[in-house]
Amino acid sequence: MSRHSAAWAAVAEAARGVPTLAALFGADAGRTARLSVEAAGLHFDFSKTHLSPEVEAALAELLAASDFESARAALFSGAVVNPSEARAATHAAERGSGSGPAVAAAAEARAATRRLVARVETGAFGEIRHILHIGIGGSALGPALLVDALDGGRGRYDTHVISNIDGIALERAMRACDPARTLVVVVSKTFTTVETMTNAESARDWIGGAERFVAVTAAPERAADWGIAPENVLGFAESVGGRYSLWSAVGVTAALALGWTAFEALLAGGHAMDAHFESAPVTENAPVLAAMTDVLYAAFLGAETRAVFAYDERLRLLPPFLQQLEMESNGKRVDRDGKLLTHPSAAITWGGTGTDAQHAVFQLLHQGTHLVPIEFVMVKTPGHGLGAAHHRQLLANAVAQGAALMRGRSEAEALALSGGDAALAAAKTFPGNRPSSAIVLDTLDPHTLGALIAFYEHRTFTAAVLLGINPFDQWGVELGKEMARAALDGDAGADFDASSRALLARLL
Ligand code: F6P
Repeated sequence: MSRHSAAWAAVAEAARGVPTLAALFGADAGRTARLSVEAAGLHFDFSKTHLSPEVEAALAELLAASDFESARAALFSGAVVNPSEARAATHAAERGSGSGPAVAAAAEARAATRRLVARVETGAFGEIRHILHIGIGGSALGPALLVDALDGGRGRYDTHVISNIDGIALERAMRACDPARTLVVVVSKTFTTVETMTNAESARDWIGGAERFVAVTAAPERAADWGIAPENVLGFAESVGGRYSLWSAVGVTAALALGWTAFEALLAGGHAMDAHFESAPVTENAPVLAAMTDVLYAAFLGAETRAVFAYDERLRLLPPFLQQLEMESNGKRVDRDGKLLTHPSAAITWGGTGTDAQHAVFQLLHQGTHLVPIEFVMVKTPGHGLGAAHHRQLLANAVAQGAALMRGRSEAEALALSGGDAALAAAKTFPGNRPSSAIVLDTLDPHTLGALIAFYEHRTFTAAVLLGINPFDQWGVELGKEMARAALDGDAGADFDASSRALLARLL
């Protein structure tokens, strides 16, 4: 048996015998302190997960057997860590972490972005009131999260992020914007993505030209061919993956909306988390501990999903951002060498905002039959000026949900509440022992948000190392794109089943 197989079997064995959360707390008065981490200004508490000392030790051994330290070093050194595309993954260099050449190249590209921001601010494009950001996937979700979380609706520009090819999205934005005062930012790494190019063409028709267009792409010649002036084209490296790209020129919309100082603070927050991830021992390393819990639940304890609840309206776009980051990265069926996985891949990520979600989906989380590890993201300082009751209620609810999920309510307690009615008591019983983790930001600002996003990136990477997956490719999106092209070309032949052919005949 290889060292890796032995380590995997040891985690399985430890997971089978893992005590309940109540027992884990009962056995260790220092548990919360031991499983809490302060990193880059953020507080993490993993103590209400099933990381028992045995499970944690076994997962640490699995990390070692997975060559985690050399994988992490390879990530930061700019070595090829994306074998199916023969590429490095240099997103951390965009925030100043990594190999000298990658950091220098990113700094040069950042200077160009800064110059463009200054040109917009000094009127090179006329008086700009609105920004229409057009992109999809990683070219939209990150920028949308940044602007929505940080500009508080009081941003320097009225900013719209449009991604869907459904014209309703663009039409709505057009109705809200004055075309003469709109800067269009077209973001596409490839500059071929059909949604983005179709939306960009409609926006160009609406404005009547591409003079007030900026492009952000790793294929600058395509943007120039499309009609965007070369001085308005910002580049970024092929080795920066779309879902990891908000730190690069892809973040220009956020830099415009929030100001350059804020954008640099975002990068500094990401850099601070890089430093923590690179140097903290694995048992005190926030992304590593989080990845351990992810893999424990998904691969060893049968959890098919994990849920993230942002108890802060400003972070309402965090769950959709994480869905792409985690599912496009680690939703794979083969390992880095192309061999079929013999264990589940990463879980499905879903979530929402608290307290809304409590009145919609928490029933299943408390009493349903699925195991769903939950993450609560909280911000100590409110983002509004209304009475303190709002924020106190919000935070009290977040903490109470985690406590209730763990504690549950016994049958005896439920019976006492049910006047001896056994059926009612059964309905009122909560099994408890349901895991959650907590992430606390003192304030939500560019620095803390940068640290939070970098935390999720490194967590995703570490889970990929444990699962043996390449987190930096996304071949799974290709087949559907090809078949859509065939359907549009009227070429829906034998590759399309009878049902799909009938639907196409009805619809197109
Ligand atoms: O189709 C998936 C995908 O390639 C994502 O990985 C990417 O973020 C998105 O499409 C957009 O791609 P692009 O930036 O090249 O337009």
